[in-house]
Amino acid sequence: MAEDKKKAVLEEIEDRVRTIGVLTSGGDAPGMNAAIRAVVRTALANDIKVRGIRRGYHGLLKEEIIDLSARDVSDTIQRGGTILQTARCQTMRTEEGQQKAAAICKKYGIDGLVVIGGDGSFAGAQKLANLGVRTIGLPGTIDLDIACTDYTIGFDTAVNTAMEAIDKVRDTSTSHERCSIIEVMGRDAGYLALWCGIANGAERILMPEEHDFDEQALVEDILECKKRGKKNYIIINAEGIGDSINMAKRIEEATGIETRATVLGHMQRGGSPTCKDRVYASVMGAKAVELLMQGKTNRVVGYRGGEFVDYDINDALSMKKQIPAHQYEISKILAL
Ligand code: ADP
Ligand code: F6P
Repeated sequence: MAEDKKKAVLEEIEDRVRTIGVLTSGGDAPGMNAAIRAVVRTALANDIKVRGIRRGYHGLLKEEIIDLSARDVSDTIQRGGTILQTARCQTMRTEEGQQKAAAICKKYGIDGLVVIGGDGSFAGAQKLANLGVRTIGLPGTIDLDIACTDYTIGFDTAVNTAMEAIDKVRDTSTSHERCSIIEVMGRDAGYLALWCGIANGAERILMPEEHDFDEQALVEDILECKKRGKKNYIIINAEGIGDSINMAKRIEEATGIETRATVLGHMQRGGSPTCKDRVYASVMGAKAVELLMQGKTNRVVGYRGGEFVDYDINDALSMKKQIPAHQYEISKILAL
């Protein structure tokens, strides 16, 4: 009995995570640094070594791996972008690339890996987990388009940045009594557009999820709103619909109302993270280390129903998320 107990304790010690790797992958997002810092400091506080991997999976395959100390993440919580840089990496999508990445993790003694990114990055983490590297995903994207979570690192900052910019466009739009199209990011997802649409009191929100919107109906609505005494008409257009510059020309021609397009672009991905992004990313980073210490693998951390939770990556990737139809309906009523 005593022997069995000793064996179990030895196995537990043997199985203990000793070195954690951390990388950021896909599009950067404000708050990623807060998550990195939390991973580093939670690990170090528990006598776990931390290795930072530069440039996502690309850097992993190129062995761009550095040791991280508590001081290396000093003065980073308030900074936008990612101190580890990020990249997209085609090779990681291949079996050969995945085998190589797992072998490199083993070579550097990385027995737990925290991947901060979106669904694509989680798919990479899933492959590594199948190859014996314990992985935990943290949702990092300004798009809010990860199905298993109500919150993604960076969305709050990005949506506030866009909202402030749109307020400024609205001022000049009102002065000139114009129609203004403001294009926000989101190639495949309309969450930024929806939130800005409501927060900025837009007349119309165009999202990639709403594929075939009727431009003629939009033109008629602009004219109708003018008749009702509106001093401007704000259209929030998601990048996935795009074509804002040409759309502005067509609307001006069809309505006779001066129309301008503003494409906000990558300024939405930068800047100092909001308090929410700093706090949530910090909690998620700490939770990722705790999960690895509990021997968990192939998990993704999320925020649901007011709680920080975790899901199996396979389950997380099979979940679906849709634009909340009720919120979209409300945005239309409020544009009266
Ligand atoms: P995000 O993580 O924001 O969804 P991407 O879709 O660009 O961004 O994915 C980021 C990276 O994750 C890709 O460049 C690739 O290296 C890796 N990745 C994406 N899909 C897979 C996959 N199916 N298998 C393995 N790795 C993947
Ligand atoms: O996924 C985040 C995101 O900013 C999307 O909103 C946007 O469509 C895309 O990345 C832009 O990617 P890139 O920086 O490669 O142009």
